[in-house]
Formats: sequence, structure tokens, C-alpha cells
Amino acid sequence: MLGNFAYCNPTKLYFGDESLKYLNTELPKYGANVVLIYGGGSIKKNGIYDEVVKILKENGKNVAEIAGVMPNPTLEKLYEGVEIARAHKADLLLAVGGGSVCDYAKAVSVSVNCDEDPWEKYYLKFEEPDCEIVPVGCVLTMVGTGSEMNAGAVITNRETKMKIGHVFADESVMPRFSILNPKYTLTLPHYQMVSGIYDIFNHICEQYFSGEDDNTSDYISEGLMRSVINSSRIANKDPQNYEARSNIMWTATWALNTLVAKGKSTDWMVHMLGQAVGAHTDATHGMTLAAVSLPYYRHIMPYGLAKFVRFAKNVWNIDTAGKTDEQIANEGLAAMEDWMRELGLVMNISELGANEEMLEAIAGSTIVMTGGYKTLEHNEIVDIFRESL
Ligand code: NZQ
Ligand code: ZN
Repeated sequence: MLGNFAYCNPTKLYFGDESLKYLNTELPKYGANVVLIYGGGSIKKNGIYDEVVKILKENGKNVAEIAGVMPNPTLEKLYEGVEIARAHKADLLLAVGGGSVCDYAKAVSVSVNCDEDPWEKYYLKFEEPDCEIVPVGCVLTMVGTGSEMNAGAVITNRETKMKIGHVFADESVMPRFSILNPKYTLTLPHYQMVSGIYDIFNHICEQYFSGEDDNTSDYISEGLMRSVINSSRIANKDPQNYEARSNIMWTATWALNTLVAKGKSTDWMVHMLGQAVGAHTDATHGMTLAAVSLPYYRHIMPYGLAKFVRFAKNVWNIDTAGKTDEQIANEGLAAMEDWMRELGLVMNISELGANEEMLEAIAGSTIVMTGGYKTLEHNEIVDIFRESL
């Protein structure tokens, strides 16, 4: 392992079908004023809202709400939430929902006591918080982003058509605790379930397709990828299968809780391409990644051939006998494509609302990362989007 690093993850996890009861363990650690944050109403339909509110009441909490956090939360919504949390003098922000709600809670947490404009400070200048951060706790209902155990918070500025993620270096932005009950994910529509599954897989890819050294993280990543592939196939046929859904939930957390990024460079270019598509279409995050992935990976494959060969062998069990490295690598990506089609993922950006006329603008809002096997030029980005149409 070539890198120098410190490792610490302060988020306490409670996992399993009885994990909500541990909210009773956590709530007494914080003051009385809780802001309950949730999305467009799924938690009211499936009963999670009632269960959480009951526990909050039993613990004597004074609860305000921020409801209606949309998928791909917006800057306007962030401003609104900051006002609510300030007025309520929040001691704890309790996010109940998916990555959007958890990310949003973190963005509010670093903005409540900050005098500067959060978009300017955190998303344009990428500064770290220098104010008191309001603690965040999560009850996760949608699996994929890893937001439950990381310091990422993605916000969309609809006015400037920029969707930007800030992964804060400050560990205190990570949720203090997260409750992971796989049963809560059983009401997800199939579209969201498979979108989340691809998000998990791609988080691992983003950290795997980089670097040349022999690195423990890559071995962990291969194990995580094999687990996601196995469980996703079961869940795709039988969405109510608790064993598969629980493995998917746990894998999602480990795919993006900083562990497998340690000691190596990381790529993240699929996310930059996907986020640019998302900024222009408001499409579901995991689907934006699925739609651009294969054109991207086929484009960079020659620059990181050895890793793509390893991916084919160790993740997809491609038989290598008598084949060239290019053939093996291509067969690995073909196996990945078959799996993606089997899940029913969206495989092109036209289906997400993008068209030829938008390509230059989408490419213009794509942030270029330098940690992968090839730093993309503008024309390569346009070409990848065109191949993704
Ligand atoms: O809003 P409600 O009504 O709750 O419905 C949501 C939403 O429509 C629904 N849902 C969630 N749990 C459900 C459910 N429906 C039925 N039953 C349940 N149990 O699912 C829809 C999608 O939810 P959302 O939170 O938007 O999905 P996801 O978890 O994929 O989060 C996406 C956001 O996270 C960001 C993305 O960019 C996007 O903004 N990301 C955050 C990351 C991080 N913190 O590290 C990394 C990721 O790469 C990603 O960028
Ligand atoms: Zn993602």
C-alpha cells in the first residue's frame, strides 16, 4: 500500500430488523430539540414515521419537522431547512430516509451556525466547516449511497445546473449514529432498489479502478462486488428476500464509508459524468451512473488494462485460457453489462431525458477528476455522453 493515511470512522451503526429500538439508546445523549427530516412521504405510507415519532415522544423530545426533502436535494430546500433548524435551536437532526435525506441533514448541520452562504463556502470553495456542527443521526430507508456512514452531502443548484458533492474531511460531519433496518427497504419500488444496487457497485468500481500497487483495499472491494452481484440477483427475482436485502444494505455501507479508499488513489469519474446528467435532468442517481458507465469503462480500459483483466477474472470469473488481455478485459465488461441488463437498469441517458442538443452543456458541467487511469479531455467527455445516448 503506497499511501499514508489516518483512519477513523465515528459513526455508530445499529443493524438488523430490531435496530430501531436503539434510538432509545441514542436520543438521551442529545438535548431536547430534535428536527425530524424526511422526504416526500414514503415513511408515512409504510409506518416508519409513526414508529420514529412514538420513540421521540417517549424520550420527551420537542420535535420540529423538515418534510419534503426531494431526491437530489436542492439549494433552495437547504436554505429553508437551515432556517427551521435555527428557529428550533436544534440539538439533533434526525434524518429518516434515503441518501437524499441523510445528505441534506449533513448539509443543514454544517450551515446552521455558519454566517457564510453554504453554497459558496462548501460547494464552490470546498471549505471545511469552522462553526459548531449540529449532530446528525440517520434511520436509513433506501440503500445505495453510503451516506449513513460517510461525510458526503450532495446538493443541486437548479439555477446554475450544478450538482456538487462535498465529501467533508471533518469526521464530525459523519452521522453520529445510523440505524440500518433491512426491513425498511422492502417497500422500495424495484426501480429504486436496482438503482441503489448499481450505486453500491459503482462506488466500489470508482475506488477499484485506480492505482497500480498491490493493495488490500482492492481485495476487499472484489469481495464486496461479489456479494452485491450475488445478493442483487436474488433480490431482483425475490425482492422480499430479507437475507439478500440485508446483505445489500450492509455492503452499501462498506462500499462508501471511506474504508476501501484508504491507501490508494480513486477515480470518481463515473459519478462526475452521472452528476452532470443529474444536474440537467434531475434523474435518479444510480440510473445516471448506469447509463454512462459502460461507455466510460470501455474508453479508459486500455489505460488500466491490468486492472480490467483482474476485474474480469476475480469478479466475473472469466475463463482466461488462450485469450489476450484485451479479450479478457472486454469479456469482464460484457459480463457486467449482462448483469446490468438482467437487473433492468437504465442503460442510456436518452431515457433519462438527455438529448444530442444538451451534450455540450452537460459536458460543460462535468467536473474532471484526475485519480483514475485517464484524465478526460472535454472532447472525450462529449464522446462518452454521445455513446451513452
Ligand atoms: O421521498 P420519499 O417519499 O421518502 O421517497 C424516496 C425517493 O423518492 C423513496 N424511498 C426511500 N425509502 C423508501 C422509499 N420508497 C419506498 N420505501 C422506502 N423505504 O426513494 C426515492 C429515492 O430516495 P433518495 O434518498 O433520493 O435515494 P438515494 O438513497 O439514492 O439518494 C440519492 C442522493 O444521494 C446522493 C445522490 O447524488 C442523490 O442526491 N449521493 C450521496 C452520496 C454520499 N453521501 O456519499 C454518494 C452517492 O454517490 C450519491 O451521489
Ligand atoms: Zn453514488
